[in-house]
Amino acid sequence: MSVVAIYSMKGGVGKSCTAVNLAWNSAVGSSRRTLLWDLDPQGAASFILKGDRSKKDRARAMVAGDVKPEKLIKHTDVENLDILAADVSLRGLDRLFFQISKKRHLGKLLKEIGRHYDRIILDCPPGLTETSEQILRNADIVIVPTIPSPLSERALTDVQMFLNSNSKKHAPLLPVYTMVDRRRSIHNEGLARKPKWPVIPMSSAVEHMTKLQQPVGSFAPRSPAAQAYARIWRGIEKKLAKK
Ligand SMILES: Nc1ncnc2c1ncn2[C@@H]1O[C@H](COP(=O)(O)OP(=O)(O)O)[C@@H](O)[C@H]1O
Ligand SMILES: [Mg+2]
Repeated sequence: MSVVAIYSMKGGVGKSCTAVNLAWNSAVGSSRRTLLWDLDPQGAASFILKGDRSKKDRARAMVAGDVKPEKLIKHTDVENLDILAADVSLRGLDRLFFQISKKRHLGKLLKEIGRHYDRIILDCPPGLTETSEQILRNADIVIVPTIPSPLSERALTDVQMFLNSNSKKHAPLLPVYTMVDRRRSIHNEGLARKPKWPVIPMSSAVEHMTKLQQPVGSFAPRSPAAQAYARIWRGIEKKLAKK
């Protein structure tokens, strides 16, 4: 089982859309038993995959060990893809991790839940918090969606410096450019600075995901954005195979 986190210090950069589409590629393209675990109380990925219909907010209680993960995990409309949905109770996640004060807590949970899966995709809340640190230390790969601009690239450098500032191990950070619009000079300048970073184009298909509540691969598989996600996922599988 491998854990792929979709993380950025910033909000609104395309983390949730990336998480849903990479999870779809894992489940459908690679036939992996896949779980998308939504850790962001905003619950965008849970909404898109129609996983957010529970009566009680129990996501935090599950992390605390008071509710069994199996009680909250649901199948999605996509074969091989399950969802562990977020709800507003996750607002208190940082405090919980801090109180538990066991640095490996998330790692243990991932191992337990991961017995039934080949891939776990984490949709992360923004920020550089206790929760982020647990995620960054326990994932195998961290995908960092980044809108091309000097400020976004600086946020990535900050996270890298934070992780390197102590000797504990962490997953490799793999930036991908998101919402790229080649008509904009600032985007083109970003692409010229980092020509090797994968690119997800600005796409109306991706925008429609929240209306249709489906991954792009389900309704627009030939769109440039769907193909970009597929390419990025194949690259992730290659990296995981080398581990
Ligand atoms: N490639 C894209 N093209 C167009 N719109 C996008 C793209 N990726 C994300 N969006 C839109 O941008 C907004 C923020 O995306 P989201 O994935 O929720 O970001 P985050 O999880 O980082 O907050 C959403 O309205 C989403 O529909
Ligand atoms: Mg999000």
